Amino acid sequence: MSERQSIPERLGHDFLRALYHMLNTVRMYQDNNQLVRMSVRAFQDILKDLTAGGDVGLLLYRSRFHLGGEKLRYRRDTAVVVYNMVEFFSKRGIGSVNFLKSSGDASPDNIITFTRLFNDAIRSDDPHQWLEQKLREHNCSWVEVEPAMPDTTVEGESLEDERYEKARKNYFLAIEAVKEVANKVSQGMVGVRKSRRLAQNIVDMVQEDSALMIGLTTLKEYDDYIYAHSVNVALLATCLGRHIELSDTSLEHLTICGLFHDLGKVDVPKEILLKHGALTDGEWDLLKAHPVMGVKKILMLNATPSLRSRIILGPFEHHLNMDMSGYPRTLFTGHLSLMGKIIHIADVYEAMTNERVYRPKSFTPDEVLRKMWEEAGKRFDTILLKRFIHMMGIYPIGSVVELSDGTVGLVMDYPEETERSLPLVLLLEDDGKGALQRGEMVYLADRKIKEGSNRLNIVRVIPPDQLSIHPAEFFLHMK
Ligand SMILES: [Fe+2]
Ligand SMILES: [Fe+2]
Repeated sequence: MSERQSIPERLGHDFLRALYHMLNTVRMYQDNNQLVRMSVRAFQDILKDLTAGGDVGLLLYRSRFHLGGEKLRYRRDTAVVVYNMVEFFSKRGIGSVNFLKSSGDASPDNIITFTRLFNDAIRSDDPHQWLEQKLREHNCSWVEVEPAMPDTTVEGESLEDERYEKARKNYFLAIEAVKEVANKVSQGMVGVRKSRRLAQNIVDMVQEDSALMIGLTTLKEYDDYIYAHSVNVALLATCLGRHIELSDTSLEHLTICGLFHDLGKVDVPKEILLKHGALTDGEWDLLKAHPVMGVKKILMLNATPSLRSRIILGPFEHHLNMDMSGYPRTLFTGHLSLMGKIIHIADVYEAMTNERVYRPKSFTPDEVLRKMWEEAGKRFDTILLKRFIHMMGIYPIGSVVELSDGTVGLVMDYPEETERSLPLVLLLEDDGKGALQRGEMVYLADRKIKEGSNRLNIVRVIPPDQLSIHPAEFFLHMK
C-alpha cells in the first residue's frame, strides 16, 4: 500500500455504511433498480475520495474494522452497521478487502458485480477462494480480498471485543470492591482509592456507551445479590446522571453513592434480608436502619472530608420519597438532594426488575417503569423520572421482546435521540439445540421505512426467565 494521509473518522464510518447499504440493496433488488443505482453511486463517491491518495484496505481484526491501517472507533450511530458487517465478513471467512487506487475508474456495473459476488460467496464451501477466482473472471481488478486470520472468526472467544471484556472486568471488579469495603469497614479504616478508580472507569464507560452499561445491569448474581444490586444501581444512576448532563466529577460521586448506598445492609442479618413472607415489626426496624448505618460506615471510610460530604446524602436519602414518607424519618422537608433522588429511582427500578426472595415474580422492565410513573411526584421526582424513562426507552434496554413476525429479540439501544420508540433489536434465533443464539441486528426505524419489507413492531415484552436467557450475556457478546 502506498503512503497516504490518515482517513477522517467520519469518512471511515460513512464508507462502511455505504458498503453495507449497497450489499443489502443489491441482495434485494435487480441491477437496474433505482435504489441499487443510488447505493452504488453513494459508495463510489466515497470510494473515490478514499482511494484518491492510494490503495485502501478494509481489515477486520478481532471484530473491529480498520480502514487504511486505522481502527474505526466505536460509534453509537453506526453500531448496527459495524455489527452486521462483522457478521458478514466472518461468515464468509474474509479478513480484509483492499480497494486499489484504480477503483476510481470502476464502472457502476462492475461494482454491482463485485457486490453480488461478495454476497454470493457465502454459498461456497471455500468463500475466499471462490470469490478471488470470480473477481478475476469478472475483471474486478480494482479490488482484492484476503482470507480471515484465525482471530476474526465468529466462533468462540475470538469475537470478544476489548470493550466487552473491559465492561465485564470492571463490573466484577466493582462487585469485589464493594464487598471488600463492606466487609472491612466495621473493623477499621478502609481506603477508597480502589472504589474511586473504579468509579472513574465506570464513568468513562458510561460516557462511551451507556446502552451497554444499562444492558449490563440485567446481570444477576444471586449469591451476592446486595453487591450486584449496588453495582447495578451505580450504573443506572450514572447513566441517568449522564443523560441529564452532570459533570464528570458529579458523575463520579454519583457512581460512588450507588456503589455504597446499601452499605448499611451488611449489619442486617441475612435471615431478614432473605426472609420469605412478612417481616415482624422488630425485623422491619432493623431493615429500616440501613440508610443510617450506611452513613455511619461512609463516615468511617478513609476519604477526604470533601469526598465524604458528597457521598453521604445519596445513601442517606435513598428510601425517602418526595412527600417525605419512607425512611429514615427526618424533620426537614422538601429538600432531597439530586443524588438522593437519582439513587432512589435507580434503586427501585433495579430492585423491581430483579427477582427477589420476597417477590415471587419480577416485573418486566416496561411494567416497572409504568408502575413507577404512577407514583411520580409522590415517590419520585417527576422530571428526573421522566428523564429516566426517556433514557430507558418505551421498551427499556435489556427487554426481551416478541416481534410482529413471531421472532424474539433483545432491545439493545435507541440510537436516535429523537426517535425513542424505535429501538435497535438483536434478533435471537434457535440454535437447533433448544437454546437461543444471536442473530441479525435490526433497527426498527429502518424496517419501518424500507420499501417492500414487512413492518416489524414489538408486540409484547417477555420475562427473560420464561426463555431461560440472561440478556447481559448478549450485551457482553458472551453468547
Ligand atoms: Fe436500600
Ligand atoms: Fe438498594
